[in-house]
Amino acid sequence: MAGAGMRIRAIRALQVLDSRGSPTVEAEAILEDGTRAAAQVPSGASTGRHEAVELRDGDARAYDGRGVLSAVANVNGPIARALRGIPVHERERADRRMVELDGTPDKSSLGANAILAVSCALARLHAKVEGVPLWRLLAGGRPAKMPLPMVNILSGGLHAGGQVELQDFLAVPHGCASCADALRAAAGIHRRMQELLERDGRAPAGVADEGGWGPRLDSNEQALEYMERAIAAAGYEPGRQVSIAIDAAATHFFRNGRYELASEGRSLAREEMIEMYSRWLTRHPVVSIEDPLAEDDWDGWAKACAVLGNRCTLIGDDLLATSQSRLERAIRERAATAVLVKMNQAGTLAETFQVVDRARAAGFGAVVSARSGETEDSFLADLAVASGAGHIKVGSVTRSERLAKYNRLLRIEAFQEGGAPLSLAPVLPLGHHGWQGGSCVNDD
Ligand code: PGA
Ligand code: ZN
Repeated sequence: MAGAGMRIRAIRALQVLDSRGSPTVEAEAILEDGTRAAAQVPSGASTGRHEAVELRDGDARAYDGRGVLSAVANVNGPIARALRGIPVHERERADRRMVELDGTPDKSSLGANAILAVSCALARLHAKVEGVPLWRLLAGGRPAKMPLPMVNILSGGLHAGGQVELQDFLAVPHGCASCADALRAAAGIHRRMQELLERDGRAPAGVADEGGWGPRLDSNEQALEYMERAIAAAGYEPGRQVSIAIDAAATHFFRNGRYELASEGRSLAREEMIEMYSRWLTRHPVVSIEDPLAEDDWDGWAKACAVLGNRCTLIGDDLLATSQSRLERAIRERAATAVLVKMNQAGTLAETFQVVDRARAAGFGAVVSARSGETEDSFLADLAVASGAGHIKVGSVTRSERLAKYNRLLRIEAFQEGGAPLSLAPVLPLGHHGWQGGSCVNDD
């Protein structure tokens, strides 16, 4: 605990680039003795309306207006001044101080990108002076777990040029005994998927924003058929060893009260969307659907939970926006059964943990998630382990901004860094009926 009382001497930031070549914030915190640590923040494309606001410069001459020099200046100026002298172990006080200094409900004054970068850098610095792995420090008294990865294999929507409307089709290797086995399964499925698409003349030229394939398909449901074929081709039994998760990101094809499936030439009412999902659950081993409906369709979500909620997990991303008040409403109205946790939707670590802890107390599932615009920072892996959420969604098994997180998980698992062995979490509550557990028996 030698460094625990050590005070913050300086905080500084710079503009760096994310995985889409868009600017983002890196912040570095420095203690009195010169010990330092840094963190970078991610950025979404299919962002929800209720997220904390990332500050962008709006100067069209640089990065199409997406520069973050104003957020950087807020770190270097007001934030650095406000936090100087705070002991590093009083991180929550620092988070509160930044929220007060910002003074808006959505962090639009200083920018959630500025605030979160500092919040994460302080946590990393604190772990460093305590001499413990980041996940161990973040966990505190929480039941840390190796998270089960939900791995993007096929992409659509805003991440893949809208070839199909639904955004993510993910493999959930719940029949695996370890994170390493789960990633081996996912890598096999990703490769077999490429071969299947090539054979059918659908091979995309490159990967989508999160590293999955973004092929042109005849329908959204065809993505599920391909998923099952790829899972089987990789040597796993669909539904028994590896199931499917969907992130519909439905807000982004919701117009004038209807869900526009343009690639299928169909426009669906909310009830028809729920019927469509219900049919899919009968035909395909789908364990969870994220954002099945739009971000403010609370009545629709409650209906979806009533109809689908005992057959799959319904995860709120745009709906809940990692917001404590929106989570409370979902608990009250039974409008979702799990929360997607994105640090930059909340804007500080303290608020992120409040959401995870509240979800656990309410019997909600939680999935710690990356953004489609990411960096090489692996912070999220430690957050996922520490939170006890049990699930992580980082994208696919290609692109190093994704692998930074997976490889960090592999390291924590292999070396059991930080002490106690960590077992792999089971599939989300209310998972697929066909799954009875077991281990990955195959190699690709
Ligand atoms: P985003 O997508 O980072 O572009 O918002 C991720 C998700 O919808 O889960
Ligand atoms: Zn989502």
